[in-house]
Amino acid sequence: AQNRLIIKNGKVVNSDSVEDVDIYVEDGIIRQVGNNLIIPGGARVIDARGRYVFPGGVDTHTHFQLPFMGTCSIDDFYSGTKAAIAGGTTTIMDFVIPQKGQSLIEAYNEWRNWADENACCDYNFHVAVTWWSEQVKEEMAELVRNHGVNSFKIFMAYKDVFQLNDKEIYEVFEWCKELGAIAQVHAENGDIIKENCQKLLAAGITGPEGHALSRPEDVEAEAVNRACVLANQVDCPLYVVHVMSISAAKIIAEKRAQGNSVFGEPIAASLATNGTHYWDRCWRHAAAHVMGPPLRPNKETPDVLMDMLGRNDLQTTGTDHCTFSSAQKALGKDDFTKIPNGVNGVEERLMLLWDRGVVTEKLTPSRFVAVTSTNAAKIFNLYPKKGVISVGSDADIVIWNPNKSKVISAQTHHSKCDFNIFEGMECHGAPEYVILGGRVVVDEEEMKVVQGYGQFVPTDPFPAYVYDTIKVREEDRKPKGVNRDGTSSGLGDVLPPQL
Ligand code: URP
Ligand code: ZN
Ligand code: ZN
Ligand code: ZN
Repeated sequence: AQNRLIIKNGKVVNSDSVEDVDIYVEDGIIRQVGNNLIIPGGARVIDARGRYVFPGGVDTHTHFQLPFMGTCSIDDFYSGTKAAIAGGTTTIMDFVIPQKGQSLIEAYNEWRNWADENACCDYNFHVAVTWWSEQVKEEMAELVRNHGVNSFKIFMAYKDVFQLNDKEIYEVFEWCKELGAIAQVHAENGDIIKENCQKLLAAGITGPEGHALSRPEDVEAEAVNRACVLANQVDCPLYVVHVMSISAAKIIAEKRAQGNSVFGEPIAASLATNGTHYWDRCWRHAAAHVMGPPLRPNKETPDVLMDMLGRNDLQTTGTDHCTFSSAQKALGKDDFTKIPNGVNGVEERLMLLWDRGVVTEKLTPSRFVAVTSTNAAKIFNLYPKKGVISVGSDADIVIWNPNKSKVISAQTHHSKCDFNIFEGMECHGAPEYVILGGRVVVDEEEMKVVQGYGQFVPTDPFPAYVYDTIKVREEDRKPKGVNRDGTSSGLGDVLPPQL
């Protein structure tokens, strides 16, 4: 058989173990994990001595080629997934965002076409519910039943564009619960933001600092709290995307302590930089940091969020990678409300998490794996196909050199964007090899990605008990979905009874 690979002498890290074991991969799947493996001849051997070996990263939050704010994010599914792989991420979860009034299925098909042709790494989609009607309800059910979608995001911000009101949100959450899907929320109070923007512009504040001033922490925290209350009323599991502030994170931690089924996702940006950049005297620099919710001027925010990740107050990390070039950002030169919102991170996430999390001992190597890969795979029902190094799982593997340093720069990143918000940051620890479905796609740092090689990974709806603990019972450990070698492995056997 082709595509045989042995990874020897490495320290294999899973979310619940660290072991000195070898790994044997054949036809895209991990076939053996252990010592003194008996292995057929002809396999490539990678010596991972002195290296850690992780399951490939799962980025829960990207926006490639997103039509947004009068333009389109500059990284498409090719450059975006190439950047992902360069940084050790082998699965990305992007957002289908229908226009108000647009068919969800039609939008889903558009995004699938873009990704199917171009993605270098594996991918799944969350679908945004940007308007509400009987048609939307039916299409959500159709997406869950026949299109491998199990997560839906609503926006509490972007007034007049994507924002839903509380009654609509309540009904979406109720329907998600019914479908066995998880609800996601962009939590910011869009009504307050709109008022603040008008006041700031009227007062002559037109620069990027106006973006931060228009949406303080409270405005995020209020919406997080409201989303938790609404979801809890209908017993729907809730996933808060891009947690940007200490106040928002604390509410998630409190609600979890009270027994709510809620998960929090800080992003590379909120874990590694802060909102003081909005006051940078260079307009281009300040505007590059504009995203919603904004980075926080409180310089302690990244450290506190990292501590909370370490304590399981927060569960996953994404990036919200949604890049706009300096020329695109300049659409808002005279009016901060017109600066396209979004920052980078898909390539840098693992390096930043290692450097700011593991090196500082806020995260153990196992917790690093949990928050960069395993928890996301469990929450979105990609586990154990993704998120773990174990027999039967996809051979998505990162070989990590903790002794290698890398300085982040727009000069060397794989994004098409001409700016990097982490410019100049030195990260200790970096990927040396990245393996996707058994194929070595980063080989001693050399990129060997293939456009279109990435596969859509369908996700099933999930029984609610999983969300109570983020633990999967032993009987659920059998791989689900379609393996890269074409064999089926049980897709559909956990459909909740109402389907
Ligand atoms: O500023 C952001 N976050 N842009 C992407 C869209 C979103 O709200 O996640
Ligand atoms: Zn958002
Ligand atoms: Zn600058
Ligand atoms: Zn986003």
